[in-house]
Amino acid sequence: MTGKQRAYQPTMAIGTALLLVGLWSSCYYPRSKPGWEYMPDMAHGTAYETYSINPFFADSMASRPAVPRSIPRGPYQPFHFSKTPQGYDSAGKHWFMPVGMDEEDLKAGQHHYVIYCAVCHGPEGKANGSIVENPNVVNPYPPPPSYFREDILNLPEGKMYYSIYYGKNLMGAYGKVLNPEEIWQVVYYVKSLQKKYLDSVQAAAASSAAASTPKP
Ligand code: HEC
Repeated sequence: MTGKQRAYQPTMAIGTALLLVGLWSSCYYPRSKPGWEYMPDMAHGTAYETYSINPFFADSMASRPAVPRSIPRGPYQPFHFSKTPQGYDSAGKHWFMPVGMDEEDLKAGQHHYVIYCAVCHGPEGKANGSIVENPNVVNPYPPPPSYFREDILNLPEGKMYYSIYYGKNLMGAYGKVLNPEEIWQVVYYVKSLQKKYLDSVQAAAASSAAASTPKP
């Protein structure tokens, strides 16, 4: 080390001491006092009541409308297929059930189904609901298609959603009754009824095939 560098040492010692004192005093006790705040407006933003006046905005409204063209997330997704045959086809190709539907959704779907759909479609989707097949109903409702008819079995989930959302001929629209999440839950439930049916048909076919196979 040179002599010149040595001459700086007292300054450095004083600097270090000041720094330590500064650090120590910044954690000073008692903590009930906030101490000195640099830019307190940043630390404690001004809170406004929801419908109060906020002079910051030209229209002085504290609650702000959504940014134009923004799309809300969660259950309220827009259904952007028009009520036309093209919209129906398009929904069949481009509108899909959210991933991760589970037992809870199935239960919720059944719940909505029993309330809104079973009167016509029947509790098991066999088109024998209480206003369709009921000796006490003077003017029974024309039966809807069974969910197990070939074309309905092959109906894409998007088209099913579309028909529930907009209604179809004698069937009313449920787009204002059920929210998108609930419609998907119902679709999920209807699809599960169809799957059960297909499984049973397959099992029956397999057992009859086994029965008819000659024993070796
Ligand atoms: C008032 C009786 C009635 C009720 C209630 C009803 N439907 Fe329907 N549904 C029908 C009829 C009738 C059709 C046949 C429409 C057609 O193809 O002309 C139908 C058709 C359908 C189809 C086939 C749609 C397609 O695109 O071909 C599905 C899926 C369906 N209904 C599901 C439901 C669900 C889910 C509910 C409850 C949210 C429901 N329906 C409530 C009478 C009803």
